[in-house]
Amino acid sequence: MTVKFTWLGHSAFSFDIDGHNVLVDPFLTGNQLAPIKPEDAAPEVILLTHGHGDHVGDTIDIAKRTGAMVAANFEVCNWLAAQGLENVNHMNPGGTLDLGWMRVKWTIAHHSSSMPDGSYGGQPNGLLFTIGDRKLYFAGDTSLFMDMQLIGMEGLDVAFLPIGDKFTMGPEDSLKAIEFLRPRHVVPMHYNTFDPIVQDVAQWARDVNSKTLSNPIVLDPGGSHSL
Ligand code: NI
Ligand code: MN
Repeated sequence: MTVKFTWLGHSAFSFDIDGHNVLVDPFLTGNQLAPIKPEDAAPEVILLTHGHGDHVGDTIDIAKRTGAMVAANFEVCNWLAAQGLENVNHMNPGGTLDLGWMRVKWTIAHHSSSMPDGSYGGQPNGLLFTIGDRKLYFAGDTSLFMDMQLIGMEGLDVAFLPIGDKFTMGPEDSLKAIEFLRPRHVVPMHYNTFDPIVQDVAQWARDVNSKTLSNPIVLDPGGSHSL
C-alpha cells in the first residue's frame, strides 16, 4: 500500500492511497500557494478539521461537482447539509471513520471553529489516519497540548503540524509538539499563505534536525512525498 501526499498550500493536502483520492481542508480559491484550481480536484472523500473558511475552502463546489463524501464534525456537517450537500458524514472526537482502505479517528484540537457565515462550527479537530500499517496525524489548527503524548503512543510515521503562529502554534511550540508526538517524519503547514503567518521554514527544518529525532519534510506547493 502506497500513501502519497501532496501539499496544496496552507493546510490543504491531497492524499493518494491505492487509487483513492482524499482531500483534506481544500482551501484553494484565495489560497495564493494553491497549485491547482477547484475544478482540477476529483476526490472520493473530503475531510475537514473545522469550520473556518481557510479549511472548508472550496468543499461545497468540489463536493457538489464530484459527489465526494464529506466527513467533518457534527455542526460542520449540518451546515454543509444546509448548503445542499447530501453526502456528509457526521463525526466527533474519539470516533473513527472506517472506509476499509483508510481509517480516520477524530481527535481534539485547541482552536476555535465557526462557519464562513459566522454560525457555530462545533469543536475543531485533528485527524489520526491508519492506512495499512501506516499512522499519520494531521493536527489541523491547534496550539500545543499535552495530550499529543497520547497521540504519539500510536507510533506515528508522519505528523502534519501548523507552524504559522498567530492562529496556531508557531515554530517553537511545534518543536515541543514533535517531542510529544515522536513521528518519523514531520510536515509543516499553515504558514506563508498570508503576511501574519510568514515563517522561515528552512530555519524550522534545521531546528527539527538539530533538536528533535524527526525528519522534516518541507514540500513546495504541488510537491509530493510517498511512504
Ligand atoms: Ni482555523
Ligand atoms: Mn486556519
